[in-house]
Amino acid sequence: IWDTAGQERFRSVTHAYYRDAQALLLLYDITNKSSFDNIRAWLTEIHEYAQRDVVIMLLGNKADVSSERMIRSEDGEMLAREYGVPFMETSAKTGMNVELAFLAIAKELKYRAGRQAHERSFQIRDYVESQKKRPSCCSFL
Ligand SMILES: *[C@@H]1O[C@H](CO)[C@@H](O)[C@H](O)[C@H]1NC(C)=O
Repeated sequence: IWDTAGQERFRSVTHAYYRDAQALLLLYDITNKSSFDNIRAWLTEIHEYAQRDVVIMLLGNKADVSSERMIRSEDGEMLAREYGVPFMETSAKTGMNVELAFLAIAKELKYRAGRQAHERSFQIRDYVESQKKRPSCCSFL
């Protein structure tokens, strides 16, 4: 697992990291609009440089900081739907949905590696939708 910081000045380094990646977690910060606005540019980059069948997941992090929220959960959902990728909000601080993000990707990759004809298909978006926790609007942690 590589953490590529996301900053513009590391972009050329970043290409090398995700060129052969099997999965990419795209994170924005729900309290930071510009991090959300950058996601489209990242998706364009990924389309250009990553493996065609790379597993992508969109994550809105810092979901515990509800008082400073700038990006509604619905906005994340809409962007994810537009690109056909699974989405959930996470909190690195509380751990909310963090394990699920990695588990969903692991399940998807495992499913792809062992896929047999006639086997019931694994749908990562359905799995994430059925498992994810949603931050309540007014919880104080
Ligand atoms: C907000 O996001 C932008 C783009 O990712 C980043 O450059 C900036 O440092 C972030 N600001 C804060 C306060 O985290």
